[in-house]
Amino acid sequence: MKWVLLVLAFAGLVGIAIACSGPVTRGALKRLMYEEPSRDRWQRPQQVVEALELAPGDRVADVGAGGGYFTYPIAEVVGEGGKVYAVDIDTSLLAYVAHQAEKRGLPQIETVEAPEDGPGLPDASVDLIFLANVFHHLPAPDRYFAGARRVLRPGGRVAIVELAGGRGFHKAHSTPPEEIKAQLEKAGYALAETHDFLEHQSFLVFEVRGGRSEVGS
Ligand SMILES: C[S@@+](CC[C@H](N)C(=O)[O-])C[C@H]1O[C@@H](n2cnc3c(N)ncnc32)[C@H](O)[C@@H]1O
Repeated sequence: MKWVLLVLAFAGLVGIAIACSGPVTRGALKRLMYEEPSRDRWQRPQQVVEALELAPGDRVADVGAGGGYFTYPIAEVVGEGGKVYAVDIDTSLLAYVAHQAEKRGLPQIETVEAPEDGPGLPDASVDLIFLANVFHHLPAPDRYFAGARRVLRPGGRVAIVELAGGRGFHKAHSTPPEEIKAQLEKAGYALAETHDFLEHQSFLVFEVRGGRSEVGS
């Protein structure tokens, strides 16, 4: 009982801190919800980024970038000649990412406040749309990705990392990989690669069906 009260008191204090702080601090506090200290052990960020097979100069949209957990390592790979759009609907997280990008000397990161139903980017602006732990947030994934096709450059890909299942909290924040595949196929994509090195998550890579981005279709 005592620890329940302590947890509630701590959550209350964090809530008050979030409500009373400026956007960068608010974003930094929210980031803690997504990035518990042991995350690197199961999330394997370097291996995930390597598997994306990016090259210097590539342009990437990190949709639902959160606190930028994947944004920064991706930005390191694409370099200053490339671009990483940190896309999110939460402006305090975007403020935090912009602050970190400056602090870390990564001018290739640009933050984008997007609507819920699309990445909010220009036509043919990226080689890769990347989502980690975001798919379950999308209200209509098939429509989201059908619309997102126009954002991809020819040969562009979509990579999705998502909790594959679980119970309770994890189930509510997961999507079975078969469901992701079905939604993307409906949106006009074909599964190109499946990575199975993540213990709890699926990691699927899709291409536009027919092998090219049909801009504006
Ligand atoms: C669980 S966090 C994942 C953050 C980050 N990708 C990571 O793995 O650490 C989900 C993020 O998706 C964002 N989000 C939710 N719905 C979204 C949407 N429709 N478009 C863009 N971002 C969205 C949330 O604001 C939040 O930052």
